[in-house]
Amino acid sequence: MSSVAEIFNTMEYGPAPESEKEVLSWLGKHERVFGHYIGGAWTEPGQLFDVMNPATSKTIARVSEGTKADVDAAVAAARSALPDWKGLAPHARARFLYALARGVQKHSRLLAVLESMDNGKSIRETRDIDVPLVARHFYHHAGWAQLLDSEFAGYEAIGVVGQIIPWNFPLLMLAWKIAPALAAGNTIILKPAEFTPLTALCFAEIAHEIGIPAGVINIVNGHGETGAAIVEHPDVDKIAFTGSTEVGRIIRKATAGSGKKLSLELGGKSPFIVYDDADLDSVVEGVVDAIWFNQGQVCCAGSRLLVQEGVAERLVAKLRARMEKLRVGSPLDKAVDMGAIVAPVQLERIRELVQQGVSEGSTMWQPSWACPTEGCFYPPTLFTDVQPSSTIAQVEIFGPVLVTMTFRTPEESVALANNTPYGLAASIWTESINLALDIAPKIKAGVVWVNSTNLFDAAAGFGGYRESGFGREGGREGMWEYLVRQGRGSRVEGRGNVRGASRRKTAFDSTSMQSSAEGAILPSTLDPQPSTLSSSSLSSSSLPPVDRTPKLFIAGKQARPDQGYTRRIHSPSGRVVGESPEGNRKDIRNAVEAAHAAAKGWARATGHNRGQILYYIAENLAARGGDFARRIDEMTECGKRRAKHEVDASIARLFTYGAWADKYDGSVHSVPIRGVAIAMNEPIGVIGMACPDEYSLLGMISLVAPAIATGNTTIVIPSADYPLAATDFYSVLETSDVPAGVINIVTGDKDGLAKVLAEHDDVEAMWYFGAREGVRMTELASASNMKRTWATWHERDWLDAKDGEGREFLRAATQVKNIWVPYGE
Ligand code: NAI
Ligand code: MG
Repeated sequence: MSSVAEIFNTMEYGPAPESEKEVLSWLGKHERVFGHYIGGAWTEPGQLFDVMNPATSKTIARVSEGTKADVDAAVAAARSALPDWKGLAPHARARFLYALARGVQKHSRLLAVLESMDNGKSIRETRDIDVPLVARHFYHHAGWAQLLDSEFAGYEAIGVVGQIIPWNFPLLMLAWKIAPALAAGNTIILKPAEFTPLTALCFAEIAHEIGIPAGVINIVNGHGETGAAIVEHPDVDKIAFTGSTEVGRIIRKATAGSGKKLSLELGGKSPFIVYDDADLDSVVEGVVDAIWFNQGQVCCAGSRLLVQEGVAERLVAKLRARMEKLRVGSPLDKAVDMGAIVAPVQLERIRELVQQGVSEGSTMWQPSWACPTEGCFYPPTLFTDVQPSSTIAQVEIFGPVLVTMTFRTPEESVALANNTPYGLAASIWTESINLALDIAPKIKAGVVWVNSTNLFDAAAGFGGYRESGFGREGGREGMWEYLVRQGRGSRVEGRGNVRGASRRKTAFDSTSMQSSAEGAILPSTLDPQPSTLSSSSLSSSSLPPVDRTPKLFIAGKQARPDQGYTRRIHSPSGRVVGESPEGNRKDIRNAVEAAHAAAKGWARATGHNRGQILYYIAENLAARGGDFARRIDEMTECGKRRAKHEVDASIARLFTYGAWADKYDGSVHSVPIRGVAIAMNEPIGVIGMACPDEYSLLGMISLVAPAIATGNTTIVIPSADYPLAATDFYSVLETSDVPAGVINIVTGDKDGLAKVLAEHDDVEAMWYFGAREGVRMTELASASNMKRTWATWHERDWLDAKDGEGREFLRAATQVKNIWVPYGE
């Protein structure tokens, strides 16, 4: 035994183990064997798989493998519970969420110890971070449930949602999924990760105790196949997934064309950027939280340390000294910094990647002390001499492994930071607020922490850019993932409802005209020549000559199509009304290049400037309103009154987005730190859009205007049947000061061109309005770079402002970046 003097000298401290007793008795109560929680009851255990404590390598329970029949039963239970749950008064749902928060708090230590034993993460983290955040999520969302009717007026629950979660934050990811879904009025089938099913089962018990109605929450365990059965189930309306980008891509493809709403929170390779004026001692503690928190098994882990050259050597020396003091060991020891890796297969994966880093020539460093050898432990690891292209700099390691690279200038830091297909999070360290707030918007990431890292809160949205997935969890922005416009639920409209030949008729149905009666009065003030709409001016002698051959519109210029093909455009009665060029793959590529060249400048233009340009387009369209009305009538034979109405509505729509351009504000979230989380609506970037076939002018403007108002650049494929309103529109654009490349228009085979856009890795989002087969194609092709898609076959009344414009469009055109800025010394 050591003497006091010896202990004083070494400052070694002994273990401070948390007791397993309560957890063992809870497991014992269940005889360590679990069925699923379906329809408010536990199923008889089926085929079982082992649940291991990775710190001891011992099996602690056995859990049922969810079969297809189990998934069917869970979906049926959720479906039958839906009407009552969705129909509950918001306050009643708020009470249930509040009770869940209280239930979690009441059992907080049981949950923390169980989580620690199931996952291997330290009790210090489960007790102080995971479980308190879980309770916080339920409290926060009890609030959204309460405010649902006033804050999300006109929206309703999507329906039955399937949720699939990973093993790195088992209970926290459950809370991130379940709380907003319940608040919005959905019912749930949740599948925990196969490595970590236990806290979800304990949670089900808590939910049962507080009286959550049967079927509202269903927990089905199992491996990937069980997850796939949920994803593919035809009676599920939405899938929310957190996990690997690989599986995210599978899910994107599996749900393509199904009408299921999808949110994906995937991997990352997040940069941790240190400028030479940063406080290096704070940086060191930041790094500890960035990459050694949860053994580095964090989707937003700061796994790439980017350091300005001048301080790199000093920082690495400080880091190594700090690493020598980290403690790895039993997760239940309250004095331990790092626990165990979740499973042997993950440990093996980390070892292999580290080995690869060494063999690719990087320098590996680990502290001198030895890790426990019994369970799945891995020491904190630091790589230097790393090339930006090397495997360990590109691949998500998902372990306690940090790679270091250096840069010289802030520009270089941004280039290096963005040099990955991911875009989940970033951390910026500098004493200069100017520099931090200059860099934050330039980083492609959904979350940016200034002089801090891994801060989370229920009030601030979390989620990625690019291949880190789409959708947000938390905050107001996260609620949208579980809501749909009233009457627009996929089941309400019937997923089998394929748009067909009837759509043209519906589109021009005169009843839809009557809904916007004011349109008939307004335009006369905008249209300087209302007389052009008199019937005499519609005689064929006044029509534009048929031999006027339009081109494509690329980079601000009318461009000849790559191939010399044109298509004849016929009116419904068969009259030839003109020709339009047949764009091809090469034209699309040129247009994407032009859109990219314009993207940076346009995104930085002020809202005021973008608004001015939208008004100017409206002004020039109004000046030629008569021509456009004539053209539309001639093409579609919709009647001159309707054609004029469409032009008027198009002008009004441009005004709408001219108005929004400087008003689609972000927000400042109220997070529990001394500081702010600024939620900015950022443009997505380059958006490809296949326009609705009906309303050749209005349909196009309804998509282009919100996209450019929010700072995106576009490649537009106009209505295939009626493209001439779009080709006429070139001259309006040319006279309206629209910067070259902001709007590019390629006519031709709509679905063929849309596919090229959807597959293009430099297109960041793809909108498709058309037939269901095209929706499926768009969603399928988009998986290559995980583009954001907005693809729909639902009818829309484009003339009705409630249906054809507004926040729904602005949300699709933007993604929220949360920038956390703590105050003070
Ligand atoms: P994973 O993505 O396979 O598993 C996540 C969840 O998806 C689990 O519940 C799993 O059962 C389920 N799943 C697997 N295949 C499925 C399918 N075809 N359809 C539906 N659900 C399916 O992740 P895994 O295999 O556990 O870890 C592999 C790597 O993924 C890790 O090394 C890490 O790099 C990354 N990862 C990233 C996470 C993140 O939060 N970004 C979380 C977990 C893993
Ligand atoms: Mg897997």
